[in-house]
Amino acid sequence: MRKRTFLAATITSGLAAWTLLRTPPGRFQWRPRDAAAPQSALITGASAGIGAEFARQLAARGFDLVLVARRAERLNELATMLMATFQVNCEVMAADLAHAEGVAAVEERIRALENLTVLVNNAGFGTLEKLVNANPVRQQEMVYLHTMAPMRLTQAALPGMTARRCGAIINVASVAAYVRLRGNVNYTATKAYLTAFSEVLQTELRGTGVYVQALCPGFTRTEFHYTPDFKDHKPLPYPGFMWMSAEEVVRQSLAALGNGQVAFVPGVLYRALVLTLRIPVLSDNLMRLASLFL
Ligand SMILES: NC(=O)c1ccc[n+]([C@@H]2O[C@H](COP(=O)([O-])OP(=O)(O)OC[C@H]3O[C@@H](n4cnc5c(N)ncnc54)[C@H](OP(=O)(O)O)[C@@H]3O)[C@@H](O)[C@H]2O)c1
Repeated sequence: MRKRTFLAATITSGLAAWTLLRTPPGRFQWRPRDAAAPQSALITGASAGIGAEFARQLAARGFDLVLVARRAERLNELATMLMATFQVNCEVMAADLAHAEGVAAVEERIRALENLTVLVNNAGFGTLEKLVNANPVRQQEMVYLHTMAPMRLTQAALPGMTARRCGAIINVASVAAYVRLRGNVNYTATKAYLTAFSEVLQTELRGTGVYVQALCPGFTRTEFHYTPDFKDHKPLPYPGFMWMSAEEVVRQSLAALGNGQVAFVPGVLYRALVLTLRIPVLSDNLMRLASLFL
């Protein structure tokens, strides 16, 4: 009898875990490249890491690209490589999206694009200071870059996408959107904004053919933890299995586009973590435990 109960409990929890952790396939219609009607994608923060990987994988799917970041030379190198490898067109825009003028220039470009199908709001950075000690200018730039810039670029893209009844907006948020730990006030708050923004926006876009995703990666191997903002901090001591490659994060994001999981967490480990963090009593205890080590 005990054996049977144990077996039933194991099967039930296995099924529950599978239902909660699986990724249904995306419903976004990826069309093969059509030279007569090419589609385009605009990616912010394309000079490194996850943004550069979005550029690679979207070029491989035949998209013409507009690559945006501050470092024009990096963007030019990437554009040259992608044009030669995938025979797509790549345009480079140097813009600082932590400030209104930079965003205005990209908004204008978006409004002029007649075939923008994918917008990836990816540009971002982190800091590890408590707010009381943090550089106020960098904090204001972070809030602008992670909230105002994606909101304004999304609003600029929506009229064209809804009129064509085809589009995808990927806002790169983070697992941090669900974490409540010191040293990360504005990073956590702005990524939570992006997640809520995407979830509510998708409800407004139901039936329009436009899909929204808040991509919430965990630790990803990029230049993120090596920017000047991290120069006074020790390298993060987290074990290898906690790190994903940008290639895997982007592959899972594109495959899941339009699958109903607007806040999409790549990787089973991080999906399980976010699930736990969404249950208040578990989240509170986990955060209390984690804060002992910080
Ligand atoms: N790596 C992780 O562990 C991780 C985890 C979760 C979420 N994320 C998120 O993933 C996104 C991409 O980060 P990443 O890991 O790929 O880091 P990364 O390798 O440092 O790339 C960041 C990109 O953002 C651009 N950027 C930064 N500030 C900018 C500004 N003011 N204006 C325009 N572009 C700007 C950078 O380009 P320029 O310097 O040339 O401007 C760069 O292309 C970020 O939103 C980050 O919060 C990362």
